Amino acid sequence: MTDLYAVMGNPIHHSKSPAIHTQFAEQAKMDLVYSAMLVPLDGFDGAVKEFFKGHGKGLNITVPFKENAFNLADSLTPRAKTAQAVNTLKLLEDGSILGDNTDGAGLVRDLTVNNDVALSGKRVLVIGAGGAVRGVLQPLLNESPEEVIICNRTFAKAEVLASEFSQLGNIIAKEFSELSGEFDVIINGTSASLNGELPPVPESVIASHTSVYDMMYGKDPTAFLLWAQNLGAGKIVDGLGMLVEQAAVSFDLWRGVHPDSMSVLSHLKSQLK
Ligand code: ATR
Repeated sequence: MTDLYAVMGNPIHHSKSPAIHTQFAEQAKMDLVYSAMLVPLDGFDGAVKEFFKGHGKGLNITVPFKENAFNLADSLTPRAKTAQAVNTLKLLEDGSILGDNTDGAGLVRDLTVNNDVALSGKRVLVIGAGGAVRGVLQPLLNESPEEVIICNRTFAKAEVLASEFSQLGNIIAKEFSELSGEFDVIINGTSASLNGELPPVPESVIASHTSVYDMMYGKDPTAFLLWAQNLGAGKIVDGLGMLVEQAAVSFDLWRGVHPDSMSVLSHLKSQLK
């Protein structure tokens, strides 16, 4: 019987996950079906249970259900525990459900492997303190950056994250107005780009050795990436690669094969244009 996989969210029509995973399965010559499932806001737990009762083997979970998935999982990977959010569920042999979070691993892989951006020993600025940032901090700190400065419009949220993750590395919360010096890597994890807005980052953080990453993506570079490019940033990268890489890590967790994500990424890029 064909194994079933899906992404659950609300809304879900925009999801690129079915296209990505279908290409991964074709590459690996694996017989599986991956679909997108719109789940009612009050129906998440029931939908998951129903899915795994049938031939469902794995799920990706997206907005707004990542915390529900965290609470529903019978066991959690360490990175899902620290993220307090789950984007991947896997049915284990004993019938229990494992929760993982592959977002941070996807970001780190896209930066370090696909874009040749080193993190180890580097000065890193992270902007934002919502769920997206919480989900990536552990894998980021595992790369041993010299320091991670975290800034957020609502400063108190940055302070909470910095103190929560301080055991894992050198992470400090700062107000935007306190930022000084150039950074090697800047990661925009806010949703500001969705509205074409810019977080209030001083221009002095950008230098020719700065790589700037926006977790958002679109047909054109985000307002934040264009701002950085105009200031002479050495590299600008949008979040499409993170999307593909988090999917690749999920696929590997389910099927034990790490897909060739680069060919899928180029295909998606050409479709966006
Ligand atoms: P997500 O799950 O995508 O992280 P979220 O938890 O709502 O969504 O967090 C959104 C992040 O984007 C927050 O850090 C938010 O800042 P606040 O904590 O002050 O709300 C940030 N954000 C959204 N719009 C922004 C803007 N126009 N300028 C700066 N930061 C913005």
